[in-house]
Amino acid sequence: ANTATASGATAFQVDSPYVHYAEGSIESDYLYDTTIVSRDIDSGKLTAKPTKVHYQFKTRTKVGRVGLMLIGWGGNNGSTITASIIANKKSISWETRKGTQEPNYYGSVMLASTTKLGVDENLRDVYVPFNEIVPMVHPNDIVIGGWDINSLSIGDAMRRAEVLPVDLQRKVYDELNQLKPLPSVYYPDFIAANQEERANNTIGGTKQEQLEHLRKDIREFKQANDLDRVIVMWTANTERYADILAGVNDTADNLLQAIATGHEEVSPSTLFAVASILEGAPFVNGSPQNTLVPGVIDLAERERSFVGGDDFKSGQTKIKSVLAEFLVNAGIKPLAITSYNHLGNNDGRNLSAPAQFRSKEISKSSVVDDMVSANNILYKKGEHPDHTIVIKYVPSVGDSKRALDEYVSEIFMGGLNTISLYNTCEDSLLASPLIIDLFMMTELMTRVTYRVKSDADAQEPEWQPFHSVLSILSYMLKAPVVPPGTPVVNALAKQRMAMENIMRAFVGLPPNNEMLLEHRAF
Ligand code: NAI
Repeated sequence: ANTATASGATAFQVDSPYVHYAEGSIESDYLYDTTIVSRDIDSGKLTAKPTKVHYQFKTRTKVGRVGLMLIGWGGNNGSTITASIIANKKSISWETRKGTQEPNYYGSVMLASTTKLGVDENLRDVYVPFNEIVPMVHPNDIVIGGWDINSLSIGDAMRRAEVLPVDLQRKVYDELNQLKPLPSVYYPDFIAANQEERANNTIGGTKQEQLEHLRKDIREFKQANDLDRVIVMWTANTERYADILAGVNDTADNLLQAIATGHEEVSPSTLFAVASILEGAPFVNGSPQNTLVPGVIDLAERERSFVGGDDFKSGQTKIKSVLAEFLVNAGIKPLAITSYNHLGNNDGRNLSAPAQFRSKEISKSSVVDDMVSANNILYKKGEHPDHTIVIKYVPSVGDSKRALDEYVSEIFMGGLNTISLYNTCEDSLLASPLIIDLFMMTELMTRVTYRVKSDADAQEPEWQPFHSVLSILSYMLKAPVVPPGTPVVNALAKQRMAMENIMRAFVGLPPNNEMLLEHRAF
């Protein structure tokens, strides 16, 4: 990799007494501004009190060697992302009807978008690549591996996926053909019956033995590739929801016990999450099912390991999380959001079964909740727009997913506004860059610790990692899982701002805002 893209490159150095570049780390002192609101019981009047909290952040700057293990490696997403990283790493271009196409990382916020660093002496904006605010891992430097219940090599899986252009497929096939997915855990009850013929690469034994097997896979992958850290991500088929049962998956101990006794409500994805946590490997769930049952979150907190989820936010939901925010914040009241999808890839085939569709429906449904509940002028307590989701399997469209959405909103003086959208896109080309962003952001969080300082401290508080549930990943996820009891943010602009400003805090920079006082008040 060249220096512009290598892991750990940063675009600038911060000149501030509150930022210290030490050997191997960046430390920042940061005053977090927040506003505490209280309500007078008698008058109901609100009082807003600006408050500052003193945080210190320490970011280890050495990225080290990092691996990514994908569950469902032989799927459309898994094979597409692997082939694309190889093409980028080796600068493999390919011929199209329009000429030569160079590889890129379009669609990755981290690698293909910029953020405003500040203004120069002429008050002109200065932008830097998002991934150069703090040192981050670069996908060109990583090792990819993983599991699939189907034994096809990643080269043949790429051909089966029918996603990438054929000239590119030809150029990366030999290398991809060397890559073989590890056998995986298959419980037919959790994915659609139509997937059964794929399951020719599975691990036998009891649930406990399977857990040990997966843990060993992670350890061996780490050793064999001389890695400092491994991140595990589920991009396998959507499973049905697991029932949350008292005594089974509600606490860490109960979940471990349920695995030991082979309880049937422990899904393959939950088994992978547990194996990852016990190996200290962050685990991210890219599908909609409830992999991160309360027992998984409890275990992650106990082991101080990271988890994130659920469900890659690629197309229709991403737009919804922009459009609904725009409408509600414009004082316009969405009354009905009606969404149809059809797609013809294996994901669509799996989702044609009711229990798996139900997981997707749940994941897609909650996306406007935070915007609606934030506006008590438009919506009474408990009031909600109608929200309907339909998904159909149409084999001939392949990976080219179609999404049709209708937004009906109430406008001024009882008028109605209808917006109709039609979106066509290669599904796996939207999802693959999200895998990269999730991976890069998760990896960063493994190198950051913080402490809160107060004048009352008798001694220095301990440095500690962020909460085990990585809500900072929300931008990339349809149904963000957040630490228990904390708010879910779905609005896309807020989610991006959170990533940007938290990364700025790690290098002691104030949050970006749009006040532009230097251009308005001088
Ligand atoms: P796919 O069906 O092409 O790939 C899934 C792979 O998982 C298959 O190769 C299958 O053999 C394998 N698999 C199934 N169960 C497994 C298990 N227990 N262990 C290991 N491997 C297993 O699907 P695609 O298109 O790659 O999507 C993957 C997942 O990502 C799906 O759940 C989908 O809902 C989710 N997703 C995809 C999005 C997109 O492509 N735009 C957006 C949001 C979520």
